[in-house]
Amino acid sequence: MEMIKLNQDFVKDSLNVHELESLMDSASEMNQMLEKKTGKGADFLGWVDQPTRMEEKELTQIQDIADRLRQKSDVLVVIGIGGSYLGSKATIEALSPFFAHKKVIYAGINLNEKYLVQLLNYLKNKEFALCMISKSGTTLEPAVAFRQLRELAYRKYGDRAKERILAITNPRKGNLLELSKKEGYHLLSIPDDIGGRYSIFSPAGLLPIAYAGIDIRQLMDGARVMQIHTSSQNKGNLSEQYAALRNALYRQNFAVEILTTYSAQLEYVQRWWQQLFGESEGKENKGIFPAVAQFTTDLHSLGQYIQQGKRNLFETVIFDTYQPGEVTVQKEAEDFDGLNYLAGKSLAEINHKAFEGTLKAHVSGGVPNIVIELPKINEFILGQLFYFFMRSCGISGYLLGVNPFDQPGVEFYKQNMFKLLGRPGY
Ligand code: PA5
Repeated sequence: MEMIKLNQDFVKDSLNVHELESLMDSASEMNQMLEKKTGKGADFLGWVDQPTRMEEKELTQIQDIADRLRQKSDVLVVIGIGGSYLGSKATIEALSPFFAHKKVIYAGINLNEKYLVQLLNYLKNKEFALCMISKSGTTLEPAVAFRQLRELAYRKYGDRAKERILAITNPRKGNLLELSKKEGYHLLSIPDDIGGRYSIFSPAGLLPIAYAGIDIRQLMDGARVMQIHTSSQNKGNLSEQYAALRNALYRQNFAVEILTTYSAQLEYVQRWWQQLFGESEGKENKGIFPAVAQFTTDLHSLGQYIQQGKRNLFETVIFDTYQPGEVTVQKEAEDFDGLNYLAGKSLAEINHKAFEGTLKAHVSGGVPNIVIELPKINEFILGQLFYFFMRSCGISGYLLGVNPFDQPGVEFYKQNMFKLLGRPGY
């Protein structure tokens, strides 16, 4: 079976072996706490066994609604922010062609007026459906966008707009739930015990992915395989390793982790990871700052800093080892551009050498590297990767001593903004 791998060869020299061994033991204890629900934030651990607890009938229901919306529309507008959109966007971008027309587009991800105005104009001549995702049902950015988009949908489709609107929200309470029941929208729920950034394997992640024509069963198969692999019974598993390595580096003042990749289609996987770790760990004046960089692109912007700037950085590289060799450099009679030395080499091979060369350079410059190898990029491997990161994040948060499942700091800007906007009660 194809599995993701974690390569520690480029990080171990920076670490004290005994400390790492003891952190591996602690990581294993933290992993047990996740399973036994004895740690902080225990009410939000539904994602831990979500891949195995999800029933086939739930997947069928998600696929059916996605198919029904696909029959009626050419474009699905997903309205949601943070954990309500990054998982689906990460998967769809990773598995779709770069230059094809987008089937799933996003709204409510900012308060940018130009974005919304242009989106409303774009949709006027499109057959569209709406998928509003908000667990709380009250988040300002998606709520404002939904109001505008609903208005457009009713104007265009009259009362039949309802057949094109789906809400994914809290199963028990909230404005969005009430509105959806009253209007008769399609309705799916994010389980009570799963928070936004851990919701990729719930309807919040799966519905847009299914609409985009991606195989959600393969994705869940990958997640299931990784859930079993990372169980606490499998001591020393990949998630325990990653969490222990990060924590060991953090203890040696490596305060910034840069997640890098040489695969441009993984940009939103990086952004999903950034939210997952940033929102889960950055609290109580603690936490590794999660940064991202795309290589080789950013070797021409951030590369200088990484090589020779302040030495508090480490990198985690996601490398796709599959080398299709579809485009090779051709030999030319006159070697004007001096590229004949590459003749016969594929772009994937050249990219691989760029990875090897960069790895060596950065490690020798004092930047430890953890390498995550993907045998290829498909639903099954991505399912593994997302679950691996979530499990690692839970363990890592517990190793830091924080609650990885809340986000109290996010409220501060909201309170000021609501006061300035005159919201009742603020
Ligand atoms: O991870 C989280 O909990 C957050 O990023 C939420 O997903 C985000 O704030 C959106 O919240 P909601 O789904 O309630 O609109």
